Amino acid sequence: METQKIISVELTDSDLSEQIKVVTKDCHVRAENTELMLAYQRGDITMEQYKLLLCSLHEIYQALEEALDSNSNHSCVAPIYFPLELARLESLEKDLEHFYGHNWREKIVVPAATKRYVHRLRQIGKDNPEYLVAHAYTRYLGDLSGGTVLGRITQKSLGLKSGEGLLFFSFPGVSSPNRFKQLYRSRMNSIELNHEDRKGVLDEAVRAFELNIQVFDDLQKMLSEMKSETKSDMPSKMERESTSEK
Ligand code: HEM
Repeated sequence: METQKIISVELTDSDLSEQIKVVTKDCHVRAENTELMLAYQRGDITMEQYKLLLCSLHEIYQALEEALDSNSNHSCVAPIYFPLELARLESLEKDLEHFYGHNWREKIVVPAATKRYVHRLRQIGKDNPEYLVAHAYTRYLGDLSGGTVLGRITQKSLGLKSGEGLLFFSFPGVSSPNRFKQLYRSRMNSIELNHEDRKGVLDEAVRAFELNIQVFDDLQKMLSEMKSETKSDMPSKMERESTSEK
């Protein structure tokens, strides 16, 4: 079904920024409906969810930004290379330090789906840098579109002071997200791609959304396993205590 859609938008010969939005429309809806994103939309994100999300985002942006940096002169990357405005890695490191302390690197948890996403980013950074635009679009334009709202929800749900552990959501180098998104789209449209590579980029964008959905699902799974472990630990602890009292 996704393939059919890709072929039909290609026939219209429209701009990459429009095509990419069309082919990822269904997965955007699916991403919005993951348990984690629904919790965001209800405004009840928990500290456990947020901390695990930061861990995964750290691994993802580390791989994405390494791939973009090492291909910054590539003709398909240079037009959309905006490290000063968009780079998230440093902010994520500060947020992780805020929650986990100075030795956060030893404490972060990386679920399997995040490892798969990172693996894909490293692979295309090496073998297909022309596809990086699909990943940069999916993350950065998503962050610019919903970032401020998600940041406010996180702050309110967790009762954080302004800015505390929330640097990921703020883009001090972007004064108007909407204008920046317009610029970014026009840069995407200036990338010269042959028919095959354009199809590859569109497929990769669908894959990028898919990888994000898997990260969110994996994270929720991990949280529910942690919860049930805590629950099943409780009776045994009580049992131990009651036995030791006897
Ligand atoms: C754009 C909502 C999650 C990626 C947008 C826009 C909204 C939105 C309102 C602006 C649409 C426009 O300008 O026409 C949401 C909500 C989410 C969510 C409510 C969940 C709480 C995500 C996720 C991703 C994502 C998880 C990817 C990982 C994008 C991208 C755009 C976008 C790439 C730019 C679309 C374009 O202009 O081409 N989102 N989003 N979003 N979102 Fe999301």
